[in-house]
Amino acid sequence: ATALGARPTTELVAPTAPLPIPGIQLVYGSNMGTAEDFCHQLVESAQRFGIKADMVTLDSWVAQHDHSIKMDWVHVFITSTYNGQPPDNAVHAAQWLKGAHDLKGLQYAVFGCGNSQWRTFQQFPKFVDERLDALGAERIANFGFGDADGDIEGDFAAYQAVFWVSLQSHFNLGADDKQSAPHPMFTPVPAQQAESVQVEYVDVPAAPLRPTAAHSAMTLVANRELLTPVAIPGLDAAAAKSTRHIEIALPAGSETKYREGDHFEVWPEQSPEDVAAVAAHVGADLDAVFSLKAQQGSSVSAKTAAGAIMAAGTAATVRDALTFFADLTGAPTRAIAELVLTKLGQTEATERVRLQDRDALKAFAAIYRRTLDAILAAPGVTLAEVLAATAATIPRRYSIASAFESHPTTVHLCVGVVSDGVCSRFLQRAEVGHVLYGAVKPCRDAFHLPDDATVPLIMVGAGTGLAPFLGFVAARRARGAAAGDAHLFYGCRHPMHDDLYQAELTAAVDEGILTGLHVAYSRDPGSKAKYVQHAIEQAAETVVPQLLEKGARLFVCGSARGMAKDVFKTLASMVAPHVPDQDGEKYLTGLQQAGRYVEDVWG
Ligand code: 2AM
Repeated sequence: ATALGARPTTELVAPTAPLPIPGIQLVYGSNMGTAEDFCHQLVESAQRFGIKADMVTLDSWVAQHDHSIKMDWVHVFITSTYNGQPPDNAVHAAQWLKGAHDLKGLQYAVFGCGNSQWRTFQQFPKFVDERLDALGAERIANFGFGDADGDIEGDFAAYQAVFWVSLQSHFNLGADDKQSAPHPMFTPVPAQQAESVQVEYVDVPAAPLRPTAAHSAMTLVANRELLTPVAIPGLDAAAAKSTRHIEIALPAGSETKYREGDHFEVWPEQSPEDVAAVAAHVGADLDAVFSLKAQQGSSVSAKTAAGAIMAAGTAATVRDALTFFADLTGAPTRAIAELVLTKLGQTEATERVRLQDRDALKAFAAIYRRTLDAILAAPGVTLAEVLAATAATIPRRYSIASAFESHPTTVHLCVGVVSDGVCSRFLQRAEVGHVLYGAVKPCRDAFHLPDDATVPLIMVGAGTGLAPFLGFVAARRARGAAAGDAHLFYGCRHPMHDDLYQAELTAAVDEGILTGLHVAYSRDPGSKAKYVQHAIEQAAETVVPQLLEKGARLFVCGSARGMAKDVFKTLASMVAPHVPDQDGEKYLTGLQQAGRYVEDVWG
């Protein structure tokens, strides 16, 4: 899915006349940094066009609403969405926008970041757009959006072009200026060069490293394989994958608590081999200690390894800097492609990448799949160049698979290993005793057991999407009180291969903690149901009355692409004959708004 049909080959458009506005206020909501990065990009292009620009989070924008809001600045809201919910730094703004406020006179545009694999695609950004409009603000550019399942960077680059054009036509610049030649609307402006930093080796012992103040050191206490290798017809390559049961000890004596359904964020580390290879290639001693300084006049983006190291603030060893801050495993960024192509003397390709030609970057990434491969192919790169061009490491979240009531000192995770996944590969190889960095991230939605234990539960999980329900089962066991019915629908491939935690779940049925365990096997010709939604369909006589009459709560969790969407559709057609207007989707959407149908899904 692309956001904006035709894309210009060159992305940035310089306004052809000065804009009659004092500045552009960027307002963002971001969990993983994409929306924030897009704001940075827009700030940079605004500044290049001689326009003042500023950025704040949605929550701080709302907090300053009564006094310091710049009503005469054009506002651009860029926000992501998390399961249809606002990102962490937009939670208050979401509430505020629901209220009655007067935003008359405010001129705005909205760009949403999301992944079209989710049924709630663009839900929160669209809400922001609609509420601003309803509160009297004036939309001056069409709602724009990017799709992380496609080319979100490209979507945003295209949006920037559209935004500047919209801004110009909104202020009617040059519109009746008939004498002049056609405006050079698509003046190519090259992307900014990678910010340059200087490495300064220092003669001090490196301070103990902590990637961010929000992540604490914790010890890995268990790590075992959950898959059984078995020859399944038609399933060879995929069967070689790995799924790990991981246990991590929470910091001793800490106040860290968690709730079933919460997430745990892991700070991934690059492998010692990859780190050593890069250090050797740039001629740096792994134990040398250095700090970074921005080259005069350049700002260093927080999205780069260099920016992250500088934000962490202390001198670090080359080993730590590369291990914790440089995403060597991910696909090469534009800055990496530019750096490597320059070193290889490929002037034409360098220029194409610099002009943000997406095909050129794709062609590069097809040769060098990982950032590491690209760095090692470049002759004469320095440590400073590598750190300035490599993307910063970002942490990954996993559903917690244990309950605090039964495991107050550890969290359990169930992690599917992805072949290019920096974090799952790190967890796969991490040994018991390894100290890693992590943090509990409370779930904001209603993705936990209802306070009233008698409310019936319908749990739907595919693959490692089973994880939170292990926590639910453990919590129900620990609470012990008389509880309502609980049905678990689980989809995996084969009873002999990935029927995870089979023994525990069967025991839970015997103990009466689970009323029904319904497993669908997608690669077992003997299975009654292929996918979870087929198992749900087969249990229609239980599921429908529970949802419609008994006030059941339904939870969906999974990594399977499209799973949550398909489950929703199946349930909608199951309830349709029994609900007003026979509109099953509308009924389920109502349940979602009431917090009775909750999803925790990822791409
Ligand atoms: P697969 O064998 O076809 O990949 C966990 O990934 C399980 O979810 C697998 O059994 C997988 O089947 C299944 N799955 C894949 N796509 C799905 C979908 N759209 N709906 C439900 N389950 C799906």
